[in-house]
Amino acid sequence: MIRETLIHQYSLLALPMTDTERDCHGYTPMDYDSDSEADEVYQRCLSYLLAHAPIEPDDVVLDIGTGTGIVAFELASKCDHVIGRDIYDEWPRYAREKAEQRGIENVSFSHGSFREPNVDEPVDVVIASYALYMAYDEGGEDELRAAIGGLASLNSRCIVIADKMRFAPVQSPSDYETLPPMGTVADLLVDAGFTITDIEIITKSVGVIIATR
Ligand SMILES: C[S@@+](CC[C@H](N)C(=O)[O-])C[C@H]1O[C@@H](n2cnc3c(N)ncnc32)[C@H](O)[C@@H]1O
Repeated sequence: MIRETLIHQYSLLALPMTDTERDCHGYTPMDYDSDSEADEVYQRCLSYLLAHAPIEPDDVVLDIGTGTGIVAFELASKCDHVIGRDIYDEWPRYAREKAEQRGIENVSFSHGSFREPNVDEPVDVVIASYALYMAYDEGGEDELRAAIGGLASLNSRCIVIADKMRFAPVQSPSDYETLPPMGTVADLLVDAGFTITDIEIITKSVGVIIATR
């Protein structure tokens, strides 16, 4: 099961996995970290997020779909503390090990989903990096609406979606049809009570939306 999940995770960055990798040792959180580091589009998206997310030193930040905690660790020095949540427990487990190795104490990682983030304290800013598109892939606009509804229920000041989404019309089936249109993500955030205050197109399939109450 874990191996299947890891293989599923491999597709998240849309990087090709060789047969040897799939057959011999699957995909690990360490692989994800090194692939992310080498992914130029991911790094541009992350840089924009770090430069523009309106995070204050006293803020509590939720990194939903935290994976190996890349974003959480980057944000830890900018806020009071970061809560990392992920639906697949092997990822926050690995992120906890990284936190211990690095001696970073203001991050915590545990189970949580878009629909049920599993957070019992007030959150100032919610971040979803390369994660929310999976809700659309799983269940289309209805699932995306439920996911954004779950995050909106935390009543944060701001939601930052730095993610895969479509910034251009689909012209062929290979044209990122499983990604949510940017307009749909923005509309759902508005329906949930937010105002869109920034949109940055990184590529035609990756971008950042900042939504504020
Ligand atoms: C591509 S990884 C991104 C990880 C990290 N945010 C980053 O930027 O590197 C997507 C993560 O979203 C998580 N995820 C998928 N569906 C989720 C859901 N419904 N609720 C919470 N996390 C979810 C996956 O388990 C995975 O760790």
